[in-house]
Amino acid sequence: MTGALIGATPGRQQLEAFKKIVGPQFVFADEESLQQYSHDETETLSFLPEVVIKPRTAAEISSIMKICNNHLIPVTPRGAGTGLSGGALPHLGGVLLSMERMNTILEIDEKNLQVTTEPGVITEVLQNAVKEKGLFYPPDPSSRGSCFIGGNIAANSGGPKAVKYGVVKDYVLNLEIVLPTGEIIWTGANVLKNSTGYNLTQLIVGSEGTLGIVTKIVLKLIPLPKYDLLMLVPFASLEKASEAVNAIFLAGFTPSGLELVEIDALKITSKMVDSHAIPVSDDIAAHLIIETDGNNMDVLMNDMEQIAALMTKYEGGEISFAEDAQQKAELWKLRRRTAEAVKIAGYTIEEDTVVPRAALPALIKGVKELGKQNNFHAVCYGHAGDGNLHIRIKKEGTANSLGDAAMTKNLRALFELVKKLGGTISGEHGIGLIQKGYMDIVFNKTQLQLMKGIKKIFDPNNILNAGKVFDI
Ligand code: LAC
Ligand code: ZN
Repeated sequence: MTGALIGATPGRQQLEAFKKIVGPQFVFADEESLQQYSHDETETLSFLPEVVIKPRTAAEISSIMKICNNHLIPVTPRGAGTGLSGGALPHLGGVLLSMERMNTILEIDEKNLQVTTEPGVITEVLQNAVKEKGLFYPPDPSSRGSCFIGGNIAANSGGPKAVKYGVVKDYVLNLEIVLPTGEIIWTGANVLKNSTGYNLTQLIVGSEGTLGIVTKIVLKLIPLPKYDLLMLVPFASLEKASEAVNAIFLAGFTPSGLELVEIDALKITSKMVDSHAIPVSDDIAAHLIIETDGNNMDVLMNDMEQIAALMTKYEGGEISFAEDAQQKAELWKLRRRTAEAVKIAGYTIEEDTVVPRAALPALIKGVKELGKQNNFHAVCYGHAGDGNLHIRIKKEGTANSLGDAAMTKNLRALFELVKKLGGTISGEHGIGLIQKGYMDIVFNKTQLQLMKGIKKIFDPNNILNAGKVFDI
């Protein structure tokens, strides 16, 4: 980790001050708490913070930040700890700021189709709350049952619905943030259009907690579609499956989900969740999961029939339709739990590559060739409709990519390929700690200097999530 700021340790005086600000029961320095907040879902990485603080208000966070800024104490903000790029890892020690107590949905504005929420609300809880009012917040990362909406904003998360409905950035209207220096600001206005000055709101979305701490969020909602249909298409060839993806869009359809799962990943997941919902015979290489949604069932059925006919042209096998809500839930469960399952099976290195959709077959072919040349085994799954492919690489022995020369070489080769195909290294998980060493592949010096300049304006002392995304 070159050039990372090594910050000051919070002393007794600062710990006492933190206790005064949030209450002594919300400041933790015991071994068990420090351990609990030392990791997220990234590989098997773990770094102990020196203190964990659980604030309740923006004003409390502001007071904490002023102290940390004065004493150059590193601060790592954290949502639910479901991240896959190490964004919430307290790798410099210091203060771990957990947002878990800021978990209230403040207002569902049915008149304007908006919701105002605190960042520590679980994404699925928010989705269900607005659903009760007939409204829809589409971004749905696989971890939606546990991740926080604030973390989704930090990473600009996506999920299966992004292919039709877009990612988190497309729903964020306005944010309240606490700056590293302690000021509290709103970034924009609660409006659907806004050409007023620079777009600070969108600068914060995807900034991985390096520019400010999000304390209130105003999201756009849309009417909830009435129906959805789900089908499963097996393919004997992974490449054919990936070629079929683009054909769906070229034929004029926009599915609300278009996921690809390679058979090895499916076998591992089926075993873990003890499900036989998806067939796993030897002649199947991959499946596409295709969902459409809308308000007119006849139109949906007709679309699905046409997509099904198209799939057979691409050598798709016997298609099955999910017959009821339970079957749909079972299929989605298998897809959503893939990352967790393959990690447990030893595929600990997770990449989040994204290419223009038509380049997906070339990416998949390239990944397999690279694996053969460099002797690594990878399984692929992900949001094929977005050209966003999760590549999980099996890692024997010590299970981290940081500082592993052979793995670093493999990842460089992979990202060079992604760049050559017109893509980039993260579609929805962020750069965090583990991808920052590869930013030079996709950005030149001038581009990186611009980003670092922005960081310096927001955080002159480099105390907030320092050493994430890039080193200053
Ligand atoms: C998924 C997460 C890992 O798509 O992004 O399952
Ligand atoms: Zn994903």
